[in-house]
Amino acid sequence: MIRQLEELARRADAELQEAHAEEALNELRTKYLGRKGLLTQMLRQLGSAPPAERPRLGKLSNEIKDKIAGALDAALKRIEDSRGDELLRQEAVDVTLPGRAVRIGQRHPVTQVMEEICGIFSRLGFTVEEGPEIETDYYNFEALNIPKDHPARDMQDTFYVSDNIVLRTHTSPVQIRTMEKMRPPVRILSPGKVYRPDSDVSHTPMFHQIEGLLVDRGITFGDLKGVLTFFLQEVFGADILPRFRPSFFPFTEPSAEVDIRCVMCGGEGCRVCGQSGWLEILGSGMVDPAVFANVGYDPEEYSGFAFGLGVERIAMLKYGISDIRLFFENDARFLEQF
Ligand code: FA5
Ligand code: MG
Repeated sequence: MIRQLEELARRADAELQEAHAEEALNELRTKYLGRKGLLTQMLRQLGSAPPAERPRLGKLSNEIKDKIAGALDAALKRIEDSRGDELLRQEAVDVTLPGRAVRIGQRHPVTQVMEEICGIFSRLGFTVEEGPEIETDYYNFEALNIPKDHPARDMQDTFYVSDNIVLRTHTSPVQIRTMEKMRPPVRILSPGKVYRPDSDVSHTPMFHQIEGLLVDRGITFGDLKGVLTFFLQEVFGADILPRFRPSFFPFTEPSAEVDIRCVMCGGEGCRVCGQSGWLEILGSGMVDPAVFANVGYDPEEYSGFAFGLGVERIAMLKYGISDIRLFFENDARFLEQF
């Protein structure tokens, strides 16, 4: 029996050398030390051994049992330790790798142009006034001398909220709101969103305008041309040639629309300028006496000029963009270029 025990110890030892995985070790534990294990079975036979030998056999069995259990525990611990090392290796941070760059946002090109324009006029002494985007019929039309039957009121040109309320179609109502609360001299600029049911390469249903209004004693059309020419030269460079084209607005008389050469085709005629070679960028004129009457200014004493320009139109010309709708698609690849 002693030989059997020693043989079993040797075999267990040999198999232990071969076992490297946790699973194999657990199998060995069951095989030798389990309730039906080899060593357990031998211990059960102790009873049938000669009484004189039992103490020695018992002692030897226990030593073998302890040895196998100890070796199994040590092997398992080694596996667990190396698993920890492996995890550490996998999760290690390579501090020499270059970092991931954070994408830095920036102001939208329309905002940039708007701020540039406001900056130019503020150097001429204009201050900013704002007005509501949801506007009454009175301020958007009536007070600006646009009678009920004017074509601009057609459903085609205006988003109506209700009979009497519209999304403002231009920034001109801010002229009225300002003159109602201020006496001349007036020199204001009003940037903001306006809305029209319009959509093609140079029109969007929402766009930005900047309104300008200057009222004082002795203001003439020469002042209008001087201020607007200075402004266009600041934005587009000293050799820009603006075209003042006679036009009509119910709230100004005389009126002029201002065009500059199409930057896409250089004046040849293309899709963007509708083959004309020119792009309209603003409307302007001398404030109509009927408008002054609506705000209680004496047209005999005061005169003034007003203008309204399209911000996207200017941004298109400035950056050579052929489709106005690109401004509103929020494609980062487009926006990043400004
Ligand atoms: C007006 O809105 C007048 N209130 C301008 C004005 C103010 C005239 C003060 C006289 C005195 P108009 O409808 O032409 O005018 O628009 C002005 C500018 O807005 C145009 O020159 C154009 O640059 C721009 N614009 C007009 N419609 C659109 C649109 N759908 N999308 C983008 N820009 C537009
Ligand atoms: Mg127009």
